[in-house]
Amino acid sequence: MKRETVVVLDFGGQYNQLIARRVRECNVYCEIYSYKTSIEKIKEIQPKGIIFTGGPNSCYEAQSPTYAREIFELGIPILGICYGSQLMMHLLGGKVEKAPVREYGKIQVNVNTSSKMFTDVSEKTICWMSHNDYISKEAPGFTVNAWTDDCPVAAAENPDKKLYAIQFHPEVLHTQEGKKMLSNFVYNVCGCAGDWKMDSFVEESIKSIREKVGNGKVLCALSGGVDSSVAAVLLSKAVGNQLTCVFVDHGLLRKNEGDEVEAVFGPDGIYNLNFIRVNAQERFYTKLKGAEEPEQKRKIIGEEFIRVFEEEAKKIGAVDFLVQGTIYPDVVESGVGGESTVIKSHHNVGGLPDCVDFKEIIEPLRDLFKDEVRQAGLELGIPDYLVFRQPFPGPGLGIRIIGEITAEKVQMVQEADAIWREEIAKAGWDKNVNQYFAALTNMRSVGVMGDERTYDYAVALRAVTTTDFMTAESAELPWEIIGKATSRIVNEVKHVNRVFYDCTGKPPATIEFE
Ligand code: XMP
Repeated sequence: MKRETVVVLDFGGQYNQLIARRVRECNVYCEIYSYKTSIEKIKEIQPKGIIFTGGPNSCYEAQSPTYAREIFELGIPILGICYGSQLMMHLLGGKVEKAPVREYGKIQVNVNTSSKMFTDVSEKTICWMSHNDYISKEAPGFTVNAWTDDCPVAAAENPDKKLYAIQFHPEVLHTQEGKKMLSNFVYNVCGCAGDWKMDSFVEESIKSIREKVGNGKVLCALSGGVDSSVAAVLLSKAVGNQLTCVFVDHGLLRKNEGDEVEAVFGPDGIYNLNFIRVNAQERFYTKLKGAEEPEQKRKIIGEEFIRVFEEEAKKIGAVDFLVQGTIYPDVVESGVGGESTVIKSHHNVGGLPDCVDFKEIIEPLRDLFKDEVRQAGLELGIPDYLVFRQPFPGPGLGIRIIGEITAEKVQMVQEADAIWREEIAKAGWDKNVNQYFAALTNMRSVGVMGDERTYDYAVALRAVTTTDFMTAESAELPWEIIGKATSRIVNEVKHVNRVFYDCTGKPPATIEFE
Protein backbone atom coordinates (compact mmCIF):
# COMPACT_ATOMS: atom_id res chain seq x y z
CA MET A 1 0.00 0.00 0.00
CA LYS A 2 1.31 3.44 -0.89
CA ARG A 3 1.89 5.60 2.16
CA GLU A 4 0.17 9.01 1.89
CA THR A 5 2.87 11.65 1.69
CA VAL A 6 3.17 15.40 1.90
CA VAL A 7 6.23 16.82 0.16
CA VAL A 8 8.11 19.79 1.57
CA LEU A 9 9.91 21.60 -1.25
CA ASP A 10 12.98 23.17 0.28
CA PHE A 11 13.86 26.69 -0.88
CA GLY A 12 16.68 27.04 1.65
CA GLY A 13 14.76 28.15 4.74
CA GLN A 14 16.00 27.38 8.23
CA TYR A 15 12.80 25.76 9.55
CA ASN A 16 12.30 23.14 6.87
CA GLN A 17 12.80 20.13 9.10
CA LEU A 18 10.39 21.67 11.55
CA ILE A 19 7.72 21.87 8.87
CA ALA A 20 8.17 18.17 8.15
CA ARG A 21 8.03 17.31 11.86
CA ARG A 22 4.89 19.31 12.44
CA VAL A 23 3.17 17.60 9.54
CA ARG A 24 4.18 14.23 10.93
CA GLU A 25 2.85 15.24 14.33
CA CYS A 26 -0.48 15.38 12.50
CA ASN A 27 0.10 11.68 11.67
CA VAL A 28 0.85 12.43 8.04
CA TYR A 29 4.13 11.23 6.54
CA CYS A 30 6.22 14.04 5.12
CA GLU A 31 9.51 14.23 3.22
CA ILE A 32 11.81 17.10 2.30
CA TYR A 33 13.02 17.55 -1.28
CA SER A 34 15.18 20.21 -2.85
CA TYR A 35 13.43 22.81 -5.04
CA LYS A 36 15.67 21.42 -7.79
CA THR A 37 13.67 18.17 -7.77
CA SER A 38 12.06 17.68 -11.16
CA ILE A 39 8.33 17.90 -11.60
CA GLU A 40 8.36 14.35 -13.00
CA LYS A 41 9.77 13.10 -9.71
CA ILE A 42 7.06 14.98 -7.80
CA LYS A 43 4.38 13.44 -10.02
CA GLU A 44 5.87 10.01 -9.37
CA ILE A 45 5.61 10.53 -5.60
CA GLN A 46 1.92 11.46 -5.99
CA PRO A 47 1.90 13.60 -2.87
CA LYS A 48 -1.36 14.46 -1.13
CA GLY A 49 -0.02 17.98 -0.72
CA ILE A 50 3.08 20.11 -1.26
CA ILE A 51 4.54 22.77 1.01
CA PHE A 52 6.92 25.42 -0.33
CA THR A 53 9.27 26.48 2.45
CA GLY A 54 10.73 29.83 3.38
CA GLY A 55 14.13 30.91 2.12
CA PRO A 56 16.59 33.78 2.34
CA ASN A 57 16.17 35.16 -1.22
CA SER A 58 13.94 37.67 -2.97
CA CYS A 59 11.71 35.81 -5.40
CA TYR A 60 11.72 38.62 -8.00
CA GLU A 61 15.50 38.43 -8.50
CA ALA A 62 16.74 36.47 -11.49
CA GLN A 63 19.06 34.09 -9.65
CA SER A 64 16.60 33.19 -6.88
CA PRO A 65 15.28 29.65 -6.46
CA THR A 66 12.08 29.08 -8.37
CA TYR A 67 9.90 26.26 -9.71
CA ALA A 68 8.09 25.35 -12.92
CA ARG A 69 4.66 27.05 -13.00
CA GLU A 70 3.19 23.76 -14.12
CA ILE A 71 3.26 22.60 -10.50
CA PHE A 72 0.23 24.81 -9.80
CA GLU A 73 -1.73 23.01 -12.52
CA LEU A 74 -1.33 19.48 -11.13
CA GLY A 75 -4.40 19.75 -8.91
CA ILE A 76 -2.24 18.91 -5.88
CA PRO A 77 -2.89 21.25 -2.92
CA ILE A 78 0.05 23.60 -2.32
CA LEU A 79 0.82 25.68 0.73
CA GLY A 80 3.48 28.36 0.36
CA ILE A 81 5.14 29.56 3.55
CA CYS A 82 7.03 32.89 3.70
CA TYR A 83 9.37 32.82 0.65
CA GLY A 84 7.16 30.00 -0.66
CA SER A 85 4.08 32.21 -0.42
CA GLN A 86 5.83 35.08 -2.18
CA LEU A 87 7.09 32.80 -4.92
CA MET A 88 3.58 31.43 -5.47
CA MET A 89 2.17 34.96 -5.81
CA HIS A 90 5.07 36.10 -8.01
CA LEU A 91 4.75 33.15 -10.40
CA LEU A 92 0.97 33.49 -10.64
CA GLY A 93 0.87 37.22 -11.39
CA GLY A 94 0.78 38.88 -7.95
CA LYS A 95 3.24 41.52 -6.81
CA VAL A 96 6.07 41.00 -4.33
CA GLU A 97 8.39 43.82 -3.34
CA LYS A 98 10.58 45.08 -0.56
CA ALA A 99 8.35 45.81 2.43
CA PRO A 100 8.26 49.40 3.70
CA VAL A 101 8.27 47.94 7.21
CA ARG A 102 10.22 44.76 7.93
CA GLU A 103 8.21 42.44 10.17
CA TYR A 104 10.18 40.28 12.59
CA GLY A 105 8.96 38.46 15.68
CA LYS A 106 5.58 37.69 17.19
CA ILE A 107 2.94 39.73 15.38
CA GLN A 108 -0.82 39.80 15.80
CA VAL A 109 -2.48 38.63 12.61
CA ASN A 110 -6.17 39.04 11.71
CA VAL A 111 -7.52 35.95 9.96
CA ASN A 112 -10.70 35.13 8.12
CA THR A 113 -11.88 32.04 9.97
CA SER A 114 -14.16 30.93 7.15
CA SER A 115 -11.00 29.91 5.23
CA LYS A 116 -10.28 26.16 5.32
CA MET A 117 -6.76 27.02 6.52
CA PHE A 118 -8.07 28.92 9.53
CA THR A 119 -10.97 26.78 10.73
CA ASP A 120 -11.12 26.93 14.55
CA VAL A 121 -8.32 29.52 14.67
CA SER A 122 -8.91 32.74 16.63
CA GLU A 123 -9.76 35.84 14.58
CA LYS A 124 -6.75 37.61 16.06
CA THR A 125 -3.84 35.24 16.50
CA ILE A 126 -0.15 35.62 17.29
CA CYS A 127 2.13 34.45 14.48
CA TRP A 128 5.89 34.40 13.87
CA MET A 129 6.92 36.73 11.08
CA SER A 130 10.38 37.10 9.57
CA HIS A 131 10.40 38.86 6.22
CA ASN A 132 11.95 41.77 4.33
CA ASP A 133 9.80 41.40 1.21
CA TYR A 134 6.02 41.30 1.25
CA ILE A 135 3.13 40.53 -1.05
CA SER A 136 1.78 43.95 -2.01
CA LYS A 137 -0.87 42.51 -4.35
CA GLU A 138 -2.27 39.00 -4.38
CA ALA A 139 -2.28 37.05 -7.67
CA PRO A 140 -5.46 37.06 -9.81
CA GLY A 141 -7.99 34.48 -8.60
CA PHE A 142 -6.74 34.73 -4.98
CA THR A 143 -8.51 36.33 -2.04
CA VAL A 144 -6.79 37.76 0.99
CA ASN A 145 -7.69 35.91 4.18
CA ALA A 146 -5.20 37.30 6.69
CA TRP A 147 -3.54 40.70 7.25
CA THR A 148 -1.59 42.70 9.82
CA ASP A 149 -1.08 46.41 10.36
CA ASP A 150 2.02 46.35 8.13
CA CYS A 151 1.25 43.45 5.85
CA PRO A 152 -1.84 43.71 3.63
CA VAL A 153 -1.52 40.09 2.44
CA ALA A 154 -0.48 37.90 5.38
CA ALA A 155 -2.35 35.02 3.73
CA ALA A 156 -4.14 34.52 0.42
CA GLU A 157 -5.91 31.59 -1.16
CA ASN A 158 -7.44 30.23 -4.30
CA PRO A 159 -9.55 27.37 -2.90
CA ASP A 160 -10.73 26.20 -6.35
CA LYS A 161 -7.12 25.48 -7.29
CA LYS A 162 -6.26 24.40 -3.71
CA LEU A 163 -3.48 26.99 -3.50
CA TYR A 164 -2.70 28.67 -0.19
CA ALA A 165 -0.05 31.25 0.65
CA ILE A 166 0.90 32.40 4.14
CA GLN A 167 3.53 34.97 4.94
CA PHE A 168 4.19 33.84 8.53
CA HIS A 169 5.66 30.58 9.86
CA PRO A 170 3.04 28.13 11.20
CA GLU A 171 5.76 25.54 11.94
CA VAL A 172 7.44 27.67 14.62
CA LEU A 173 6.02 27.28 18.12
CA HIS A 174 5.82 31.07 18.50
CA THR A 175 2.91 30.92 16.06
CA GLN A 176 0.40 30.03 18.74
CA GLU A 177 -2.10 28.27 16.49
CA GLY A 178 0.37 27.14 13.85
CA LYS A 179 -0.14 23.45 14.48
CA LYS A 180 -3.88 23.87 14.00
CA MET A 181 -3.23 25.65 10.68
CA LEU A 182 -0.95 22.88 9.39
CA SER A 183 -3.44 20.30 10.54
CA ASN A 184 -6.17 22.23 8.67
CA PHE A 185 -4.01 22.14 5.56
CA VAL A 186 -3.29 18.41 5.63
CA TYR A 187 -6.80 17.35 6.65
CA ASN A 188 -9.21 20.03 5.34
CA VAL A 189 -7.35 20.94 2.17
CA CYS A 190 -5.31 17.83 1.25
CA GLY A 191 -7.85 15.35 2.58
CA CYS A 192 -5.25 13.17 4.30
CA ALA A 193 -6.41 10.22 6.39
CA GLY A 194 -3.53 10.42 8.91
CA ASP A 195 -2.04 6.93 8.53
CA TRP A 196 1.46 7.70 9.88
CA LYS A 197 1.51 6.02 13.29
CA MET A 198 4.39 4.38 15.12
CA ASP A 199 2.70 1.06 15.83
CA SER A 200 2.02 0.54 12.16
CA PHE A 201 5.52 1.78 11.30
CA VAL A 202 7.07 -0.87 13.53
CA GLU A 203 4.83 -3.61 12.16
CA GLU A 204 5.42 -2.66 8.52
CA SER A 205 9.19 -2.33 9.04
CA ILE A 206 9.45 -5.79 10.59
CA LYS A 207 7.54 -7.24 7.66
CA SER A 208 9.57 -5.52 4.98
CA ILE A 209 12.91 -6.29 6.68
CA ARG A 210 11.95 -9.97 6.82
CA GLU A 211 11.12 -9.96 3.13
CA LYS A 212 14.34 -8.21 2.18
CA VAL A 213 16.67 -10.29 4.36
CA GLY A 214 15.16 -13.72 3.70
CA ASN A 215 17.62 -16.24 5.14
CA GLY A 216 20.57 -13.81 4.91
CA LYS A 217 22.85 -12.83 7.73
CA VAL A 218 22.75 -9.31 9.10
CA LEU A 219 25.30 -7.30 11.01
CA CYS A 220 24.17 -4.34 13.09
CA ALA A 221 26.43 -1.46 14.04
CA LEU A 222 25.44 -0.97 17.66
CA SER A 223 26.73 1.98 19.69
CA GLY A 224 24.37 1.71 22.63
CA GLY A 225 22.83 5.09 21.71
CA VAL A 226 19.09 5.46 21.21
CA ASP A 227 19.07 5.16 17.43
CA SER A 228 21.24 2.10 17.00
CA SER A 229 19.63 0.40 20.02
CA VAL A 230 16.18 0.85 18.48
CA ALA A 231 17.50 -0.35 15.11
CA ALA A 232 19.07 -3.44 16.74
CA VAL A 233 15.93 -4.41 18.67
CA LEU A 234 13.78 -3.86 15.58
CA LEU A 235 16.09 -6.07 13.53
CA SER A 236 16.22 -8.74 16.18
CA LYS A 237 12.39 -8.84 16.22
CA ALA A 238 12.45 -9.18 12.44
CA VAL A 239 15.20 -11.74 11.86
CA GLY A 240 16.07 -13.23 15.28
CA ASN A 241 19.49 -14.78 15.46
CA GLN A 242 20.33 -14.13 11.83
CA LEU A 243 21.41 -10.83 13.40
CA THR A 244 24.79 -10.16 15.00
CA CYS A 245 25.37 -6.85 16.77
CA VAL A 246 28.86 -5.46 16.65
CA PHE A 247 29.80 -2.85 19.20
CA VAL A 248 33.03 -1.04 18.36
CA ASP A 249 34.85 0.63 21.20
CA HIS A 250 36.72 3.25 19.20
CA GLY A 251 38.37 4.71 22.27
CA LEU A 252 36.15 7.79 22.00
CA LEU A 253 33.40 6.65 24.35
CA ARG A 254 32.39 8.24 27.62
CA LYS A 255 33.92 6.93 30.84
CA ASN A 256 32.83 3.30 31.50
CA GLU A 257 30.48 3.38 28.53
CA GLY A 258 31.90 0.28 26.85
CA ASP A 259 31.10 -1.84 29.90
CA GLU A 260 27.68 -0.26 30.29
CA VAL A 261 26.69 -1.08 26.72
CA GLU A 262 27.95 -4.62 27.14
CA ALA A 263 25.93 -4.98 30.34
CA VAL A 264 22.69 -4.22 28.44
CA PHE A 265 23.27 -5.92 25.09
CA GLY A 266 25.96 -8.48 25.94
CA PRO A 267 25.50 -12.11 27.05
CA ASP A 268 24.35 -11.12 30.57
CA GLY A 269 22.11 -8.32 29.33
CA ILE A 270 18.38 -7.95 28.83
CA TYR A 271 18.35 -9.01 25.18
CA ASN A 272 19.14 -12.30 23.68
CA LEU A 273 21.44 -11.04 20.94
CA ASN A 274 24.56 -12.29 19.23
CA PHE A 275 26.86 -9.57 20.55
CA ILE A 276 30.48 -8.90 19.63
CA ARG A 277 32.56 -6.20 21.29
CA VAL A 278 35.59 -5.03 19.37
CA ASN A 279 38.20 -3.08 21.29
CA ALA A 280 39.69 -0.96 18.54
CA GLN A 281 41.01 2.01 20.51
CA GLU A 282 44.61 1.86 19.30
CA ARG A 283 43.61 1.39 15.72
CA PHE A 284 41.44 4.54 15.74
CA TYR A 285 44.07 6.61 17.56
CA THR A 286 46.67 5.60 14.97
CA LYS A 287 44.42 6.58 12.07
CA LEU A 288 43.52 9.87 13.72
CA LYS A 289 47.11 10.84 14.47
CA GLY A 290 47.82 14.30 13.06
CA ALA A 291 44.20 14.91 11.93
CA GLU A 292 42.99 18.28 13.18
CA GLU A 293 40.23 19.36 10.85
CA PRO A 294 36.69 18.40 12.03
CA GLU A 295 35.39 17.04 8.73
CA GLN A 296 38.58 15.04 8.20
CA LYS A 297 38.28 13.54 11.69
CA ARG A 298 34.63 12.63 11.10
CA LYS A 299 35.47 10.95 7.80
CA ILE A 300 38.38 8.97 9.28
CA ILE A 301 36.21 7.72 12.14
CA GLY A 302 33.32 6.87 9.79
CA GLU A 303 35.55 4.99 7.38
CA GLU A 304 37.39 3.09 10.10
CA PHE A 305 34.07 2.00 11.62
CA ILE A 306 33.03 0.47 8.33
CA ARG A 307 36.38 -1.29 7.93
CA VAL A 308 36.01 -2.85 11.38
CA PHE A 309 32.50 -4.02 10.50
CA GLU A 310 33.72 -5.47 7.22
CA GLU A 311 36.38 -7.46 9.07
CA GLU A 312 33.89 -8.74 11.62
CA ALA A 313 31.50 -9.64 8.82
CA LYS A 314 34.24 -11.67 7.12
CA LYS A 315 34.86 -13.57 10.35
CA ILE A 316 31.16 -14.45 10.61
CA GLY A 317 31.04 -15.23 6.89
CA ALA A 318 28.36 -14.59 4.25
CA VAL A 319 26.98 -11.44 5.80
CA ASP A 320 24.95 -9.59 3.19
CA PHE A 321 23.48 -6.73 5.14
CA LEU A 322 24.79 -3.99 7.39
CA VAL A 323 22.27 -2.19 9.61
CA GLN A 324 22.81 1.38 10.75
CA GLY A 325 20.73 3.61 13.00
CA THR A 326 20.74 6.57 10.62
CA ILE A 327 17.82 8.93 11.24
CA TYR A 328 16.20 11.58 9.05
CA PRO A 329 17.97 14.69 10.41
CA ASP A 330 21.33 12.91 9.77
CA VAL A 331 20.30 12.49 6.15
CA VAL A 332 19.13 16.07 5.74
CA GLU A 333 22.04 17.67 7.62
CA SER A 334 24.51 15.68 5.56
CA GLY A 335 23.06 17.41 2.50
CA VAL A 336 21.57 14.27 0.99
CA GLY A 337 17.93 15.31 0.88
CA GLY A 338 17.11 18.97 1.06
CA GLU A 339 18.57 22.27 -0.03
CA SER A 340 20.25 23.38 3.19
CA THR A 341 24.03 23.58 3.17
CA VAL A 342 26.03 20.65 4.54
CA ILE A 343 26.59 21.44 8.21
CA LYS A 344 28.38 18.26 9.24
CA SER A 345 28.92 14.83 7.77
CA HIS A 346 27.22 12.55 10.21
CA HIS A 347 29.49 9.60 10.30
CA ASN A 348 26.79 7.16 9.36
CA VAL A 349 25.79 9.03 6.21
CA GLY A 350 28.22 11.48 4.65
CA GLY A 351 31.25 9.71 6.06
CA LEU A 352 30.45 6.39 4.46
CA PRO A 353 33.23 5.27 2.13
CA ASP A 354 32.29 4.93 -1.56
CA CYS A 355 33.10 1.28 -1.61
CA VAL A 356 31.55 -0.86 1.09
CA ASP A 357 31.83 -4.60 1.28
CA PHE A 358 28.15 -5.38 1.97
CA LYS A 359 25.40 -6.24 -0.46
CA GLU A 360 23.12 -3.66 1.07
CA ILE A 361 22.92 -1.20 3.93
CA ILE A 362 19.64 -1.29 5.85
CA GLU A 363 18.68 1.92 7.60
CA PRO A 364 15.27 1.18 9.10
CA LEU A 365 15.02 4.54 10.89
CA ARG A 366 16.17 6.65 7.97
CA ASP A 367 12.74 8.29 7.64
CA LEU A 368 12.26 9.08 11.34
CA PHE A 369 12.89 12.12 13.47
CA LYS A 370 14.42 11.59 16.92
CA ASP A 371 11.15 11.78 18.83
CA GLU A 372 9.65 9.27 16.41
CA VAL A 373 12.61 6.94 17.01
CA ARG A 374 11.91 7.13 20.73
CA GLN A 375 8.23 6.36 20.12
CA ALA A 376 9.24 3.38 17.99
CA GLY A 377 11.57 2.29 20.83
CA LEU A 378 8.72 2.37 23.34
CA GLU A 379 6.52 0.52 20.85
CA LEU A 380 9.23 -2.18 20.74
CA GLY A 381 9.20 -2.44 24.54
CA ILE A 382 12.65 -0.96 25.09
CA PRO A 383 12.94 0.35 28.67
CA ASP A 384 12.52 4.09 29.27
CA TYR A 385 16.04 4.59 30.61
CA LEU A 386 17.45 3.49 27.24
CA VAL A 387 14.84 5.20 25.08
CA PHE A 388 15.26 8.57 26.78
CA ARG A 389 19.07 8.56 26.99
CA GLN A 390 20.64 11.82 25.93
CA PRO A 391 22.07 11.57 22.42
CA PHE A 392 25.72 10.68 21.99
CA PRO A 393 27.22 11.21 18.53
CA GLY A 394 28.69 8.32 16.53
CA PRO A 395 32.14 9.96 16.32
CA GLY A 396 31.96 10.23 20.12
CA LEU A 397 34.51 12.28 22.01
CA GLY A 398 36.32 12.69 18.69
CA ILE A 399 34.13 15.74 18.02
CA ARG A 400 34.36 16.94 21.62
CA ILE A 401 38.13 17.26 21.50
CA ILE A 402 39.01 20.24 19.37
CA GLY A 403 41.95 19.55 17.08
CA GLU A 404 44.16 16.49 17.21
CA ILE A 405 43.00 13.53 19.30
CA THR A 406 45.39 11.71 21.63
CA ALA A 407 44.78 9.03 24.26
CA GLU A 408 45.79 11.53 26.93
CA LYS A 409 43.23 14.10 25.74
CA VAL A 410 40.53 11.43 25.58
CA GLN A 411 41.19 10.58 29.19
CA MET A 412 40.98 14.23 30.23
CA VAL A 413 37.65 14.77 28.55
CA GLN A 414 36.28 11.45 29.84
CA GLU A 415 37.11 12.37 33.43
CA ALA A 416 35.80 15.93 33.15
CA ASP A 417 32.62 14.73 31.43
CA ALA A 418 31.98 12.08 34.10
CA ILE A 419 32.26 14.73 36.82
CA TRP A 420 29.97 17.13 34.95
CA ARG A 421 27.30 14.48 34.38
CA GLU A 422 27.53 13.35 37.98
CA GLU A 423 27.08 16.88 39.35
CA ILE A 424 24.15 17.61 37.05
CA ALA A 425 22.46 14.36 38.01
CA LYS A 426 23.12 14.89 41.73
CA ALA A 427 21.43 18.28 41.52
CA GLY A 428 18.45 16.69 39.71
CA TRP A 429 19.04 18.80 36.59
CA ASP A 430 19.44 15.83 34.27
CA LYS A 431 15.67 15.92 33.78
CA ASN A 432 15.65 19.60 32.83
CA VAL A 433 18.38 19.62 30.21
CA ASN A 434 18.34 17.56 27.04
CA GLN A 435 22.04 17.18 26.37
CA TYR A 436 25.03 17.94 28.56
CA PHE A 437 28.69 17.07 28.31
CA ALA A 438 32.25 18.29 28.65
CA ALA A 439 34.52 19.05 25.72
CA LEU A 440 38.23 19.67 25.60
CA THR A 441 39.23 22.92 23.96
CA ASN A 442 42.55 22.99 22.22
CA MET A 443 43.53 25.99 24.26
CA ARG A 444 46.25 25.90 26.90
CA SER A 445 46.70 28.75 29.27
CA VAL A 446 48.74 29.79 32.25
CA GLY A 447 47.49 29.00 35.71
CA VAL A 448 48.81 28.54 39.19
CA MET A 449 48.47 25.44 41.36
CA GLY A 450 49.99 25.40 44.80
CA ASP A 451 52.99 27.60 44.20
CA GLU A 452 53.63 26.22 40.75
CA ARG A 453 52.96 27.81 37.38
CA THR A 454 50.90 25.55 35.13
CA TYR A 455 50.35 25.63 31.38
CA ASP A 456 47.39 23.35 30.85
CA TYR A 457 44.18 22.72 28.95
CA ALA A 458 40.76 24.36 29.25
CA VAL A 459 37.60 22.26 29.46
CA ALA A 460 34.29 23.61 28.15
CA LEU A 461 31.08 22.52 29.83
CA ARG A 462 27.89 22.43 27.82
CA ALA A 463 24.24 21.89 28.75
CA VAL A 464 21.40 22.66 26.40
CA THR A 465 17.64 22.56 26.33
CA THR A 466 16.04 21.64 23.04
CA THR A 467 13.07 19.73 21.71
CA ASP A 468 14.45 18.74 18.35
CA PHE A 469 18.26 19.25 18.53
CA MET A 470 18.02 21.48 15.46
CA THR A 471 17.86 24.61 17.55
CA ALA A 472 18.90 24.76 21.20
CA GLU A 473 19.31 27.15 24.11
CA SER A 474 22.20 27.10 26.53
CA ALA A 475 20.72 26.01 29.88
CA GLU A 476 20.67 28.56 32.68
CA LEU A 477 22.05 26.23 35.31
CA PRO A 478 22.39 27.33 38.92
CA TRP A 479 25.88 28.61 39.62
CA GLU A 480 26.41 26.04 42.42
CA ILE A 481 26.39 23.20 39.88
CA ILE A 482 28.83 24.91 37.53
CA GLY A 483 31.02 26.05 40.43
CA LYS A 484 31.11 22.63 42.06
CA ALA A 485 31.90 20.85 38.80
CA THR A 486 34.60 23.41 37.98
CA SER A 487 36.35 22.98 41.25
CA ARG A 488 36.20 19.18 41.01
CA ILE A 489 37.47 19.17 37.43
CA VAL A 490 40.51 21.35 38.07
CA ASN A 491 41.31 19.35 41.19
CA GLU A 492 40.66 15.84 39.89
CA VAL A 493 41.56 15.96 36.20
CA LYS A 494 45.24 16.14 35.45
CA HIS A 495 46.39 18.83 32.99
CA VAL A 496 43.21 20.86 33.16
CA ASN A 497 43.56 24.26 34.82
CA ARG A 498 40.59 26.20 33.45
CA VAL A 499 36.87 25.56 32.88
CA PHE A 500 34.42 27.48 30.69
CA TYR A 501 30.65 27.25 30.49
CA ASP A 502 29.33 27.53 26.93
CA CYS A 503 26.54 30.15 26.90
CA THR A 504 25.90 29.93 23.17
CA GLY A 505 22.69 28.69 21.64
CA LYS A 506 22.23 26.87 18.33
CA PRO A 507 22.30 28.81 16.09
CA PRO A 508 24.84 30.34 15.91
CA ALA A 509 26.85 27.54 17.58
CA THR A 510 26.10 23.86 17.11
CA ILE A 511 25.52 21.57 20.08
CA GLU A 512 28.74 19.64 19.51
CA PHE A 513 32.05 21.44 19.09
CA GLU A 514 33.10 20.03 15.74
P1 XMP B 1 24.95 19.55 16.36
O1 XMP B 1 26.33 19.55 16.91
O2 XMP B 1 24.90 19.33 14.89
O3 XMP B 1 24.23 18.29 17.01
O4 XMP B 1 24.16 20.75 16.80
C1 XMP B 1 22.86 18.01 16.92
C2 XMP B 1 22.64 16.67 17.54
O5 XMP B 1 23.22 15.66 16.71
C3 XMP B 1 24.22 14.94 17.43
N1 XMP B 1 25.31 14.71 16.48
C4 XMP B 1 25.61 13.52 15.91
N2 XMP B 1 25.07 12.30 16.06
N3 XMP B 1 26.61 11.38 14.50
C5 XMP B 1 25.58 11.23 15.37
O6 XMP B 1 25.12 10.10 15.53
C6 XMP B 1 27.22 12.57 14.29
O7 XMP B 1 28.14 12.67 13.50
C7 XMP B 1 26.68 13.69 15.03
N4 XMP B 1 27.01 15.01 15.09
C8 XMP B 1 26.16 15.61 15.98
C9 XMP B 1 24.61 15.82 18.59
O8 XMP B 1 25.11 15.07 19.69
C10 XMP B 1 23.30 16.53 18.90
O9 XMP B 1 22.46 15.72 19.69
